[in-house]
Amino acid sequence: MINEVNEPQLELFESSHKKKDTSMTFADNMKLPIHRWFRYSAGFSGAWVRELIKEKNAKNVIDPFAGSGTVMIESDFAGINSYGIDSHPFVNRLGKAKLLWKEDPNKLKDASNRLIEIASNHKIEQKEYPTLIEKCYPPEVITKLTALKESWQKIEEDTPTKELLWFLITSILRKTSPVGTASWQYVLPNKSKSKVIDPFIAFQAKSHEMVSDMRVMQKKYPNHGNSHILSEDARDMESVPDDWADLIITSPPYANNYDYGDATRLEMTFWGEIEGWGDLQKLVRKNLIVSCTQHATKIRNLIESQIDSSEIEPIRDELKPIYQKLSEVRLTKGGKKNYQLMVLAYFHDLAQVFKELRRTTKPNSEMCFVIGDSAPYGVYVPVDRWLGELALANGFKSFYFEKLRDRNTKWKNRKHRVLLKEGRLWIKG
Ligand SMILES: C[S@@+](CC[C@H](N)C(=O)[O-])C[C@H]1O[C@@H](n2cnc3c(N)ncnc32)[C@H](O)[C@@H]1O
Repeated sequence: MINEVNEPQLELFESSHKKKDTSMTFADNMKLPIHRWFRYSAGFSGAWVRELIKEKNAKNVIDPFAGSGTVMIESDFAGINSYGIDSHPFVNRLGKAKLLWKEDPNKLKDASNRLIEIASNHKIEQKEYPTLIEKCYPPEVITKLTALKESWQKIEEDTPTKELLWFLITSILRKTSPVGTASWQYVLPNKSKSKVIDPFIAFQAKSHEMVSDMRVMQKKYPNHGNSHILSEDARDMESVPDDWADLIITSPPYANNYDYGDATRLEMTFWGEIEGWGDLQKLVRKNLIVSCTQHATKIRNLIESQIDSSEIEPIRDELKPIYQKLSEVRLTKGGKKNYQLMVLAYFHDLAQVFKELRRTTKPNSEMCFVIGDSAPYGVYVPVDRWLGELALANGFKSFYFEKLRDRNTKWKNRKHRVLLKEGRLWIKG
């Protein structure tokens, strides 16, 4: 199902500037060792993170929305400590796997050579495939990918190398499909790609890239830092100590209806972790902050009561009329999307995150939130200011928004032209 109002969070944008500021996009990471292992389009630039860590002379960094681990990888390179949190189970596993760049590259090299040899002679056991997989791959490609998967599943011992092999297979799934599998999210079976790579060749090329990146970066950064990615929730980061961080670098989901649950549907279906659209709510979305109507609608009763919650109190007077307006406008629209629920829950959830960040940060720490605002059904929501106010209500001292670009492409097919922006929300205290 394609949602007509989603827009890539950070990657595809129109900019009014001639020279684009790419610090907020993942694109440049595709040239950077380790970062480039998996194209997570919701990510931001590793080079920008590196500069920020240096400029702030940070020692302990948290990214409560860690995604593919950009902040943790850079913290590793900088020789400092970091905690990343991502409650999307599959994305979390991808991020954790990237942190294994410090493992022995020779073991990965040998293990991937062995796996490809076993897979080449493997007689596959799987008889039927989910519809999504059949739509995405011709039979000869499915056969090879399944041979890799089943050969991997036969590896008995759970080791970091086995995990890197899992990551390696996962990372070639989109490249080896001849249909539209845009790195951002939805699979488009009716579109075709010009460049498709054979699974075994893609596997070997990726293995080569990973082994070589590990060698180069281990040599460059022998005294790497101590980074962790936790399978927790930014609203309750229980393993992160009190008063720990001096810098937060993060980008939360935007309130723009992008469904993170759907972002890894192809990969999770391939590995047999989900069977269909329905599984996404119970296995993925329920762990995430609410930022799409698919999620909000499922927990409507819970959200409706949040309007009176203490979390929302600092912005309640402004939020209520917007909530009301969205409740009315939706009735005039075909999709009748519950944006009012999405917006309310979004700020409720982010307020909880600020509370956790206050607990886990030192006094006089600094936070940088890469964010964008939104205008569902043309109703403007001042995301940056409200987030700033929620931060103040939770004990931070000041905030300001550094706009980096205008963005109004998201609603371009709609009737209105609300100007949106994207930039960095700096919070201190
Ligand atoms: C914009 S992405 C962050 C990308 C990251 N900066 C990178 O470079 O890869 C936002 C992430 O927040 C995660 N997320 C959503 N709700 C969360 C929650 N409650 N706790 C932790 N992470 C969450 C999503 O899974 C998604 O990966």
